[in-house]
Amino acid sequence: MTYDRAFFDAGIDRRGTNSVKWSAKGVMQEGMVPLWVADMDFACAEPIREALIRRAQHPNYGYTFAGPEDAEALAGFWKRRHKLDIRPSDTLMLPTVVAGLRACVNTMTQPGDGVIIQTPVYGPFTQSVTEGGRVVLDAGLVRDAEGRYTMDYAAIERFLRKGARLMILCSPHNPVSRAWDQEELRALVVLLKRYNCRLVSDEIHADYVYAPRVFHPILSLPETREDTVSLVSASKTFNIAGLQQATAVCRDRDTLALLGRFLERSGANTGNIFALSGTRAAYTHCDDWLDALMSYLRENQDALKELLGELLPHAVISPMEATYLAWVDIRPYDTPHCDIDKRCRKHGVALTDGQFFGVSSGEGFMRVNYGCPKSQLLEGVQRFAHAIKEN
Ligand SMILES: Cc1ncc(COP(=O)(O)O)c(C=O)c1O
Repeated sequence: MTYDRAFFDAGIDRRGTNSVKWSAKGVMQEGMVPLWVADMDFACAEPIREALIRRAQHPNYGYTFAGPEDAEALAGFWKRRHKLDIRPSDTLMLPTVVAGLRACVNTMTQPGDGVIIQTPVYGPFTQSVTEGGRVVLDAGLVRDAEGRYTMDYAAIERFLRKGARLMILCSPHNPVSRAWDQEELRALVVLLKRYNCRLVSDEIHADYVYAPRVFHPILSLPETREDTVSLVSASKTFNIAGLQQATAVCRDRDTLALLGRFLERSGANTGNIFALSGTRAAYTHCDDWLDALMSYLRENQDALKELLGELLPHAVISPMEATYLAWVDIRPYDTPHCDIDKRCRKHGVALTDGQFFGVSSGEGFMRVNYGCPKSQLLEGVQRFAHAIKEN
């Protein structure tokens, strides 16, 4: 299989597959262009499909478990792509990253404890904290005139002084598209250590960092505490979120054991036959698909910048360092936030509402998913521009 521009341009017809992105009730209607939820409209790499078919051909689908080969496939990938050594014994299979976030909040803190997050950030960070009866401490990111975001260390330290017990980091950051520098991460880790605050790093977007920037795994920093947890998955990287498989990586045995017990008590035992087969294939045989996809996404970034610059010249796209999600500031157009989504729907495009990531930090922003064929992206952006310009 050749993963060239034509392969990605072709996209894939997902109608009739119960795709959230294409068919979610209350969001999508016939004829709308979906540029919202973070999955992509491309066929996945052929070895994943082959692995699933191969497994399906064995007609027994009884209970299964993650074997050493699963952790080894993940470790091999992370060594190859990110130069990180992961010992198979430092991994715990999870059904999803969000299940991992919830397990971390519930096992590392007590009800009433404060947990630091940095909005705008992926919405379930907030829910993982509040639904566990913990308190959100929002050390909101700081935005400069070009739309680039940085960490507010002074705000983090204020919360640490007040006794924050845990911080959840999004690295790379969804939705602001930052690939954190090594120095930024080191400063954070050192600060948290000083106040004995634990850290969970959601690294689900690790593989979408655009050169010349590189991804720095939290576990690669010498200052990182043993009990730091990194949450990773092949789901975004290889567009297999429907398989539901993720991994917690941590060098501290007790932390992993507590996470494992929490999941067991929640009835979220891992070991979906197809998820394990697909994930193993993804981590082992699909680097060529991923490399080709990255080049395609890079071109989509240029197309997005060019068209949006032409149609909505006052909109500001945050520098696209990472992910396949663009964070767009449309406040210069003075559209009341509550109208933006309505207007977009009327014009036939679904984007992710900025307030999903933070009620105040997301006001006046929309997130555009450019993980789709270029023609779909351009059509969606045109509709977006018309929606914003409508009087
Ligand atoms: C930062 C981040 N974490 C987690 C998830 C969801 O992961 P999962 O489906 O494994 O829970 C997403 C999905 O967009 C995400 O952007």
